[in-house]
Amino acid sequence: MRIDIITVLPELLKSPFEASILKRAIEANLVEVHFHNLRDYTSDNYKSIDDTQFGGGAGMVMMIEPIDKCISQLQSERKYDDVIYMTPDGETLNQGIANHISLKENIIILCGHYKGVDQRVRDHFITREISIGDYVLSGGELGAAVLCDAIIRLIPGVLGNETSALTDSFQDNLLAPPIYTRPREYKGWKVPELLFSGNLPKIEKWREEQAYERTKALRPDLLDEK
Ligand code: ADE
Repeated sequence: MRIDIITVLPELLKSPFEASILKRAIEANLVEVHFHNLRDYTSDNYKSIDDTQFGGGAGMVMMIEPIDKCISQLQSERKYDDVIYMTPDGETLNQGIANHISLKENIIILCGHYKGVDQRVRDHFITREISIGDYVLSGGELGAAVLCDAIIRLIPGVLGNETSALTDSFQDNLLAPPIYTRPREYKGWKVPELLFSGNLPKIEKWREEQAYERTKALRPDLLDEK
């Protein structure tokens, strides 16, 4: 998979890709991530990427030309499955969307700033709009980092244990069951005895029940979906 991220603040985005699982995925060539600074696609001396709104109103708008130049340059080099715009009014990211995008070959992610982009960018270049939640960030970069993390960890080979992404919370619309490790008892707090029984079918059943009970208590809305 190849991800091209278009941003005015590449430095805000880079560190998540320089540590841990994302770094290893890139080093193992399981994913390529490229950053494109929108200011490199400007045509005036001031390297402007934004301007005031037509019709009046507070806040600057990202101009179409540098975005067009950058996206068109990329699209002349290879075919993209999706051109994603990070915006609070996009569809809210969930595990299903992450699963779907993780199967793509090449994607572009455009990070918005200020009031957002000229509507014509959305009308003519963007194929999908994604929000990471109902709150407003100062730019799309942190949202893009969240989206990339959620999709890259699903690429086969990225996680050590191939099954572990499948047993994550949300993969079956259930939260994950409780997990424990050593010590067996800490300050008098014990690990459920069943987990030492060696009875794998029974442990599996217990985990399923716990997952269901947890979901019912904490996220009943998930049980209504699908
Ligand atoms: N840009 C600003 N707010 C955002 C959000 N909630 N999700 C994605 N991109 C954003």
